[in-house]
Amino acid sequence: MTRWYRERKRDYYYKEAKKQGYRARSSFKLIQINNRYGILKKGGVFIDLGASPGGWSQMAARYGKVIAIDIQPMQPLDNVIFIQGDLTKEETIEKIRQIVSKVDAVISDASPNISGNYTLDQAKSVWLCENALRIAEEFLKQGGNFLCKIFEGEDYPQFLRKVRERFRMVKPHAPQASRKQSSEIYIVAKGYVGR
Ligand SMILES: C[S@@+](CC[C@H](N)C(=O)[O-])C[C@H]1O[C@@H](n2cnc3c(N)ncnc32)[C@H](O)[C@@H]1O
Repeated sequence: MTRWYRERKRDYYYKEAKKQGYRARSSFKLIQINNRYGILKKGGVFIDLGASPGGWSQMAARYGKVIAIDIQPMQPLDNVIFIQGDLTKEETIEKIRQIVSKVDAVISDASPNISGNYTLDQAKSVWLCENALRIAEEFLKQGGNFLCKIFEGEDYPQFLRKVRERFRMVKPHAPQASRKQSSEIYIVAKGYVGR
């Protein structure tokens, strides 16, 4: 894909996000994934990890109730309970436990601060995904769904294998609304079957 085309596309999604009242361009990634795979069910309860500024939460809240987690603050949204905290920390998980015991989907768009060192950034991304999967294992109902952004690289196949062991259907997906050239991929997992 040429740089020109990428920039035009980014511009398009930015304008569409504004027009449709979404906080972030990233809402469209979730819309595209959800249209295709049906991750979010009407009337469900969802955990959104790495949620700020709230594009995914906003979109998920159209389907049901959302518990949103991020280190960064987030402006309030209807149907969304926000917990400011680190998703890798036990104290944050404890706060989730105080609100829900089981949910229908865990979605994670969490990404590390980009250092420029891809090996390091990729390792951090996998670490966030490992923690997102841990949260999914604790909170997902049987048959629940999981969606997780990951940077492709060395530890990716091993993580993918782990997800495959726990879900009925697993598919790596590169959404059209994705800005990055190719390193960023979404793992779509449906039908939690346990460990
Ligand atoms: C790409 S943004 C998410 C955008 C969001 N999905 C939206 O639609 O508005 C990635 C987020 O991951 C968060 N994040 C990174 N590491 C985290 C961690 N350990 N715990 C919680 N959030 C984290 C960042 O603060 C950042 O807000």
